Amino acid sequence: MNYFLKEKEEMVRDLFSDYVNKRIIPIRAELDEKDQFPADIFTEMGKQDFYRIVVPEAYGGLGDESMSAALGIEELSRGDGGIGVTFAVNAIATKGIILYGNEAQKKKYLPAVADGKIYTAFGLSEPGAGSDAGSIKTKAVKKGDKYILDGVKQFITNGAIAGVTLVIAVTDPEKGHRGQTAFIVEQGTPGFTVGKSEDKMGIRSSVTNQLIFDGCEVPQENILGSPGQGFYIALGLLDRSRIGIGAQAVGIARGAFDEAVKYSKEREQFGQLISSFQAIQFMLADMAAGIEAARLLVYQAARQVDSGEKEITVPGAMAKLFASDMAMQVTTDAVQVFGGYGYSKEYPVEKMMRDAKVTQIYEGTNQIQRVVIASKLLK
Ligand code: CAA
Repeated sequence: MNYFLKEKEEMVRDLFSDYVNKRIIPIRAELDEKDQFPADIFTEMGKQDFYRIVVPEAYGGLGDESMSAALGIEELSRGDGGIGVTFAVNAIATKGIILYGNEAQKKKYLPAVADGKIYTAFGLSEPGAGSDAGSIKTKAVKKGDKYILDGVKQFITNGAIAGVTLVIAVTDPEKGHRGQTAFIVEQGTPGFTVGKSEDKMGIRSSVTNQLIFDGCEVPQENILGSPGQGFYIALGLLDRSRIGIGAQAVGIARGAFDEAVKYSKEREQFGQLISSFQAIQFMLADMAAGIEAARLLVYQAARQVDSGEKEITVPGAMAKLFASDMAMQVTTDAVQVFGGYGYSKEYPVEKMMRDAKVTQIYEGTNQIQRVVIASKLLK
């Protein structure tokens, strides 16, 4: 299938794809079993300039187009969903600095991201505020030329590894969501500690942490955008990051589909390959069609962002919604094609099914995506 990719995009896809085949697929089962973040893989990806595709050229990158990022995330996720999401979240928190940061902030952080010296994270969700992002409680109180942050963030991808985290906090409680502000918080800032690490069902090669702010002093020059803009920054980033999760879901589904096709051409029952049965053929055909449809939604949404179109909320929500539901279906069907072996950890598809599940939950549950789409349609 020709996706009308530009030369640079094909290069990104091929580079990431080769790396995944050589370095990620051979170790993914072990990472999953040991619940291990592969620090060496991420260092190596930095040496191979992978992070430059999420940073503008002016700051040491190769351009920060959504399409290239989506292709990179898709390929990484074809190998391992946890590695895919780590890259995706690093890309989106970095995008926050690109879109809303001032020149000093961009100069300070973006070259470090491009060089792979720091990773970034996005701290929005809290123990009591997931879907209802407007009701966060972490507060930031102004004291001289600093803000004092107190509160807890929950389920933060990259929490423990991020050199820089974008933290949304309440600066004016009277104003509800209009009283939230985004801060750039550096690792090691006194009063900021990384709490427990989640023991997750899937994407186990990624780190997911609680972040604790206890009298954490953040200089006021670390405000991202302006005071009161935090909620809008968060939603603006989610519009974009949902495309990345769509790409992750497509990648996971492709990985499962490839395994299912391969297995169907090796496994014999009733004296013939199971790929000769129409029951299996129809499943494979539906899987392929679903992947293709989701892929086109993801690529189209990324193209809309890159073309500077203003209305990107609905394309991003649709891409994430459709691709993640598709990935759950395709990975479940892949397990079915493998039969009893699919249920065993000896084969890779049960991990892919576990990895796929979270794509229906994070970056806004699929119920929230439907709320977002419907509310725009009915406006
Ligand atoms: N961009 C910018 N502003 C937006 C916006 C958008 N896409 N959508 C709405 N807004 C603005 C509205 O214009 C409105 O502004 P005013 O008040 O100034 O008029 C304001 O935001 C509030 O809008 P709503 O009344 O629609 O907001 P709400 O509170 O009812 O609900 C919501 C909004 C869609 C439910 C939102 O809270 C939401 O998306 N929730 C899900 C949160 C989420 O996705 N969390 C994921 C966490 S990150 C994660 O999972 C990371 C990971 O590890 C991978």
